[in-house]
Amino acid sequence: MNTDNRIFLKKISPDNNGELESLKKLYVESFYEQYKDIPLEKLNKDFKTQDDIKKRLSWVIDQNMEYAKTSNHFTDIYAIQKKDGKGNLDDCGVMIIEHIKYGHPEHYNRNNTALHIRHVAIDKNKQRFGIGGDAFIEVTKLYKPIDEIVLDVRNVNEKAQNFYKKQGFAIISKPFDNHLSSEYFSSGKRWEERIRSQSAMARRSDGIPIDRRGSGH
Ligand SMILES: CC(C)(COP(=O)(O)OP(=O)(O)OC[C@H]1O[C@@H](n2cnc3c(N)ncnc32)[C@H](O)[C@@H]1OP(=O)(O)O)[C@@H](O)C(=O)NCCC(=O)NCCS
Repeated sequence: MNTDNRIFLKKISPDNNGELESLKKLYVESFYEQYKDIPLEKLNKDFKTQDDIKKRLSWVIDQNMEYAKTSNHFTDIYAIQKKDGKGNLDDCGVMIIEHIKYGHPEHYNRNNTALHIRHVAIDKNKQRFGIGGDAFIEVTKLYKPIDEIVLDVRNVNEKAQNFYKKQGFAIISKPFDNHLSSEYFSSGKRWEERIRSQSAMARRSDGIPIDRRGSGH
């Protein structure tokens, strides 16, 4: 039996259509499970049937695949993987990250380096095993040094809010991503986690410039 509980993050090339399609399926099923019992109008005023939820979720992934193909969105897609009983790496979830650097054209008012967690979903059959939490730890290591992690979450998604609280996030105020928030996450909340990484703090207090490019690109 496999006793290796480590999480691996595999960066997926935007051209790897096969793997992206299978992660899309995982994402849609995972979110759908969370949303299916929420009244449609609370999710989106334009939703008429349950199928509209799935269509919108698929569209979100398609949109992010397009973002990942262009250089100005700084979007990376990861498969969250774990070894199965035979030692093979198995896709357990998907995480989509935007690495916001100082001077980012869409976030010109930022004076720090941040990770924007655009989306995270764990396979609906593999939740509550600590995979989501471990994925946050791993992604933070990948992009070190960073000053903060930000994300939006819907008010109706209480399970995700509990999860983010457990990861040390707190509600900051208005949604972070104004474009998405106004259109799709009008009832969302912006959450933020301050990174207290020793190395990042030490570098800043030493006056040595932080590598704005990070290691994720
Ligand atoms: C939210 C999500 C990513 C959490 O992933 P996960 O691997 O199940 O989370 P973990 O096992 O690491 O949970 C860590 C802690 O978060 C909290 N938590 C996680 N899921 C929770 C739930 N459904 N209800 C209440 N608390 C929850 C718990 O405190 C949990 O610790 P515990 O199991 O020891 O009580 C996963 O449920 C998911 O993919 N949901 C559907 C998609 C989604 O909502 N994504 C986030 C949208 S912004």
